[in-house]
Amino acid sequence: MKTIAIQSIKGGTAKTTTSVHLASGILEQEPEARILLIDSDQQSSLRTYFRISTKENSADLSEFLLENRPYQDCVIPVEFGAENKRKKIDVIISNKRIADAEMKLFVLPRREELLRLRFKQQNLAANYDYVIFDCPPTLNLVTYNVLLASDYFIIPCSMDMFSVVGVKSVIENLDAVAQVFDVRPKVLGVLPTIYDGRNNFNKEMLEQIKVVFAHLGVFEPIRIDVKIKRAQIKNMSVFEYDSECNAAKDYGQFAIAVLSALNQDQVQSSKTQAVSSGSFNRAPAEVHSEVRSLRGSL
Ligand SMILES: Nc1ncnc2c1ncn2[C@@H]1O[C@H](COP(=O)(O)OP(=O)(O)O)[C@@H](O)[C@H]1O
Ligand SMILES: [Mg+2]
Repeated sequence: MKTIAIQSIKGGTAKTTTSVHLASGILEQEPEARILLIDSDQQSSLRTYFRISTKENSADLSEFLLENRPYQDCVIPVEFGAENKRKKIDVIISNKRIADAEMKLFVLPRREELLRLRFKQQNLAANYDYVIFDCPPTLNLVTYNVLLASDYFIIPCSMDMFSVVGVKSVIENLDAVAQVFDVRPKVLGVLPTIYDGRNNFNKEMLEQIKVVFAHLGVFEPIRIDVKIKRAQIKNMSVFEYDSECNAAKDYGQFAIAVLSALNQDQVQSSKTQAVSSGSFNRAPAEVHSEVRSLRGSL
């Protein structure tokens, strides 16, 4: 089982869109893959995306996390796509209860490691090939639980300065986590999103992002495309809405790149047992100076 968190400390960078399209893009390549998509954001974006109507008694992430409710009680099976090619994913949603979970977590021992523990206790690895976390743009105890339950990180970055600083914050935070806990999170790369190639500022921004975050790896950008919004209204991904549109092509290539990076890492890990991208093991001051140089060059 591969656990991947889509994280950035900034709203509107396409975290939710990327989570959905990574899941859907993996299913384009591996139709039988068992995927669990977990929303850790109290805004319940995934619930809105798939128009999930929750029954009164259906459990969400906070119950799974705090009460160790069986994951089968918490997942909601979602199907979308053409009739002859239905895509199936399991979704665990969050809602306002996740904010209360924050308070309850505070007094618990190993409060940052509870989600990781639940994964083990309930042997999720036997039931899913991929777990993808859609993260909130905030750092709190629930986010730390997600960080510690994830092996891989993808950091979406839209074409603005705040978003770049958001990438930097994720890296600093992963550094801090790696120093305190016995984990080696791996950054698969920064994903430039909502990219408008006709806009000179976007072009300059992308070039700078490629330089500043070269050490993390930068995926090819996802172009701005209104079909993303149209697909969302129909509760599907762009692959089903219009497989020829720019966003479908870009997210398709992105999913292939992620799968290839995951496979490569698996091969390397089994050979060396000590693979770390090393990408975030850099002094925060070093990253600070790079962001300053980015400011200067724009
Ligand atoms: N490639 C894209 N082209 C056009 N709009 C996009 C694209 N990616 C995301 N969006 C839009 O940008 C907004 C923010 O995306 P969302 O995934 O909700 O971000 P986040 O989860 O980081 O807050 C949404 O309205 C979404 O439809
Ligand atoms: Mg979101």
